[in-house]
Amino acid sequence: MTENLDLFSAPAPVASAQPAIRIKALRDQLNHWAHQYYVLDEPTVPDAEYDRVFRELQALEAAHPDLVTPDSPTQRVIGAVMEGLAPVRHAVPMLSIHTETDTEATGAQAFDARVRRELGLTDADPAIEYVAEPKFDGLAMSLRYENGRLVQAATRGDGEVGEEVTHNIRTIRQIPLTLPEGVPPLLEVRGEVYMRRADFDALNERQREQGGKTFVNPRNAAAGAVRQLDSNITAQRPLSFFAYGLGAITPTGDGGPVFRTHYEMLQTLKSWGFPVAAQVQIALGAAELVAFHQQVGASRDALPYDIDGVVYKVNSLQLQRDLGFKTREPRWAVAHKYPAQEMATKVEAIDVQVGRTGKITPVARLAPVFVGGVTVTNATLHNLFEIRKKGVRVGDTVIVRRAGDVIPEVVGVMPGNRTGYVPNFQMPKACPVCGSDVVREKGEANHRCTGGLFCAAQRKEAILHFAARRAMDIEGLGDKLVDQLVDANVIRTLPDLYRLGLTSLIALERMADKSARNVLAALEKSKQTTLPRFLFGLGLRHVGEATAKDLARHFGTLDAIMDASVEQLLQVNDVGPVVAQSLHTFFQQPHNREVVEQLRASGVTWPEGAPAERAPQILAGKTVVLTGTLPTLSRDAAKDLLEAAGAKVAGSVSKKTSYVVAGEEAGSKLAKAQELGVPVLDEAGMLALLQAGAAAEGAG
Ligand code: IVH
Repeated sequence: MTENLDLFSAPAPVASAQPAIRIKALRDQLNHWAHQYYVLDEPTVPDAEYDRVFRELQALEAAHPDLVTPDSPTQRVIGAVMEGLAPVRHAVPMLSIHTETDTEATGAQAFDARVRRELGLTDADPAIEYVAEPKFDGLAMSLRYENGRLVQAATRGDGEVGEEVTHNIRTIRQIPLTLPEGVPPLLEVRGEVYMRRADFDALNERQREQGGKTFVNPRNAAAGAVRQLDSNITAQRPLSFFAYGLGAITPTGDGGPVFRTHYEMLQTLKSWGFPVAAQVQIALGAAELVAFHQQVGASRDALPYDIDGVVYKVNSLQLQRDLGFKTREPRWAVAHKYPAQEMATKVEAIDVQVGRTGKITPVARLAPVFVGGVTVTNATLHNLFEIRKKGVRVGDTVIVRRAGDVIPEVVGVMPGNRTGYVPNFQMPKACPVCGSDVVREKGEANHRCTGGLFCAAQRKEAILHFAARRAMDIEGLGDKLVDQLVDANVIRTLPDLYRLGLTSLIALERMADKSARNVLAALEKSKQTTLPRFLFGLGLRHVGEATAKDLARHFGTLDAIMDASVEQLLQVNDVGPVVAQSLHTFFQQPHNREVVEQLRASGVTWPEGAPAERAPQILAGKTVVLTGTLPTLSRDAAKDLLEAAGAKVAGSVSKKTSYVVAGEEAGSKLAKAQELGVPVLDEAGMLALLQAGAAAEGAG
């Protein structure tokens, strides 16, 4: 196809000299990428790069209208119907949304100004009511229900004709197959199929371990899963769904519902069983749209799924009808983007890092690049096989992805930009930190340092993990301090931490008396902990936070866990043979038991419970929102307590919120709670509630 084209390393030819040639080159390149993206589900360039070339083509065509042809990528919405999936003509076309590329305030203001102008409003008229929603980064789906049953699911395709994927969509648990009585006889629900980041990471991790194909990002993993011919494969790919609109619906008068606003329609969809994003909210005028853009932007990393922007929609359906459409875009909606989460940059070197379990991870040192809202200079390459599969070499231009607070990773190489011969990356034979042998076990994708706790890197990582916020929460024990403590041989094992004295701390570089005392105080404070935190902090392979919680709940005491047989361990929720065996082996090692005993002897303690005794689920079904700083409990500790009592802890306040627990400097969430009449508690009130409930439960 276009193998010889190289738009990246070579500057654009002088466009004005031969626009026809340049236009042809741009079209070929865009078609090639589009094929890889839409048909093969294997993108080779980041969206931002595609957009840049697309815009260059648009600009050239605008300057030379005589060169525009109907087959130009600018003249159609690309989307291919795959062989094997049946085409579906949409009863109501699936539109696209105009994208506002302007920054922060101006994007929302430009849209609001345009809407007001088109409606003939003046400055004297009141503000327009909008609905602001996240722009989910997945793929659009139309779900057709007849007499309350899902009869057809179709992709967007080119907007007019999509692909039938009903067999695959049925595997998505979030999508209802039947609807409650009384829904309109014909109903098409439109929304986004997507993959949550945690599900995507787990899927890729699984694929990586099994040597299978990994996916570039959640959207591509989702698109690939939806368009499988075999729904058994789809069923193994965890997909999710958010509803955001309607297609065809039984007309009003024929038993069709009368919605006055978009928001009301979404709430109704929710009541019929469709997931609607919690972030969706009403916004009055441009100012509140700007606030929404900022607020969602600030919490973007904390969302469990990828978004690439927000969408603003005029709320009144009458005003939507008045505004109408412009070719394939409604005049009543606009998308407002955030910085891209995938960008291209150059690999300057490839180093390796040694992790807590000895895993050796190759890391790409990058020319600094702004991606996902931060400047990134390092990205993981996972393991040797991933490097080989992706074909990454020093000097290559690669695509870097950073989404959420996940470690940035290299997801692919940009085609054809290597000029000379560059040797392939090789794994070191000896650990760069301790010199021990590096090995790879049969059937494993990862290389490991065999040094164990002899290896300073593993020791450092083990200590940092123990001290982490979600483990023992030792404030102030960060990587700089741990580096010094391990390098100076002050700390060799975890129990050494609690033997630290003022003298040895002050002897360290840049450690003043005050900060040394703070570290000691933090260590002292960390001794009062919980069993799940302690277990998690030990850093056993395969024992994450969730497993640690399950183990603690099931066995109640540490001794019971340490003495459990493999069979007994297998009784625990989510503990399989690999985890059970690895736990059993760990606690059979005398030196590991010794570490535990020494930690206990130095005063580390936690409340122990009876086996499988759960806190009374007095808050089951309740949703609680935490805001502000509580006087004694950390945010995590409060969350743990609430969750142990069965509550769901949510991030934003709505009418459905049962309680808001507010501390000092509580802001908009508190105001919202007061506005909606949601009960507000302080820390003491929350503890009293938990205790009163527990007492009542105990008595009854
Ligand atoms: S509304 C009339 N709302 O963005 C507008 N679309 O170009 C119809 N998308 O592929 C779409 N989040 O799948 C709408 N909250 C949201 C959305 C959303 C993501 C996607 C949609 C489509 C594209 C529109």
